[in-house]
Amino acid sequence: MIKNKHFSTLALSAVMSIAIFATPAMADKKSNKSLKKAAKTCKSVHPKDVSGCALTFSRSHGNCLACHQIKGGALSGNIAPPLIAMKARFPNKAVLRAQIWDATVKKPGSVMVPFGRHKVLTEKQIDKVTSFIHSL
Ligand code: HEC
Repeated sequence: MIKNKHFSTLALSAVMSIAIFATPAMADKKSNKSLKKAAKTCKSVHPKDVSGCALTFSRSHGNCLACHQIKGGALSGNIAPPLIAMKARFPNKAVLRAQIWDATVKKPGSVMVPFGRHKVLTEKQIDKVTSFIHSL
């Protein structure tokens, strides 16, 4: 009995360490897959900026298509304005970046994900997404 109990404790701790160590790795794998899939689309629709486009389109990264229409992006949502003619509407790139970093600064209560404040994207990824969006 004691031996059995010992074994199950051991088994449990093994399972727990798998859960602790495997989960982030599995999430990484899934997000890499999503980025790769987006990059494949981007190669044909936005060949000039594949990495910025992929971060924007990837469901595990920007996922901007959930709410915005963007040229070349499939299955987009429409609860937010389409991202077109950005240079004309956002001549200052810093203003555009600020919108992506935290939309609630300009509009408290915005449903847009505060990508910088919530660290959904890294600062470098936000720079890339901003450049891509600015080119639309
Ligand atoms: C959950 C929905 C949602 C997601 C996801 C989302 N947005 Fe938004 N976004 C909005 C809404 C709604 C607005 C309209 C203004 C507001 O309510 O803040 C907006 C506004 C904007 C604007 C200003 C547009 C304009 O015409 O003034 C930009 C630029 C923008 N989003 C970029 C992005 C980018 C880039 C991403 C992905 C990294 C993204 N959004 C993801 C909902 C979203």
